[in-house]
Amino acid sequence: MQQTSPPSAEAKTIHEDRTLGNVVDIVTRCGTSREACIKILQEVQEAYGYLPTAALRYVTEHTRITPRQIYGVATFYERFRFKPLGRHLIKVCRGTACHVRGAPQVLDAVEQELGLAEGKDTTADGEFTYEKIACFGACALAPVVVVDGQTKGGMTADKMRRLLRREAKSNDPAKGENQPDAKAE
Ligand code: FES
Repeated sequence: MQQTSPPSAEAKTIHEDRTLGNVVDIVTRCGTSREACIKILQEVQEAYGYLPTAALRYVTEHTRITPRQIYGVATFYERFRFKPLGRHLIKVCRGTACHVRGAPQVLDAVEQELGLAEGKDTTADGEFTYEKIACFGACALAPVVVVDGQTKGGMTADKMRRLLRREAKSNDPAKGENQPDAKAE
């Protein structure tokens, strides 16, 4: 029987090298001045979906950008994240138009369904990241959610629950859709 072994130190190094490979390219393209900070962070975020610590360390060691400057920029702009996104990104509008048409119930449904711990925005299994948005600019469709980049209007708590359960099921072969013998819902 074939034995599975834990990830080796070598595998870890290869992973880190790949991470750094991208950052080396980014720094080469954007330059090493302090003014390049936002551009570098944008590109790092685009490459990984977040700002990995190893990548930020490389930036501070090979440019004139300081850890303090990175932290200031990354915390000022909401689009930057220090943690990876989940496989599915669920954004729920909490703007006024959505609020008066039932967004609070939709928000409650998401929070109950995902069972996120206090202060967390991503489920422990890494499947869902949840964000509240001020307004998507699609108020006529209120209440609005955006799931993996797709805008869905007229959302209700029930629809939201069904949608999240469907996504969770499609991610887990043991629960359904990816199993050949599983019955359709
Ligand atoms: S208030 Fe929700 S889309 Fe504008």
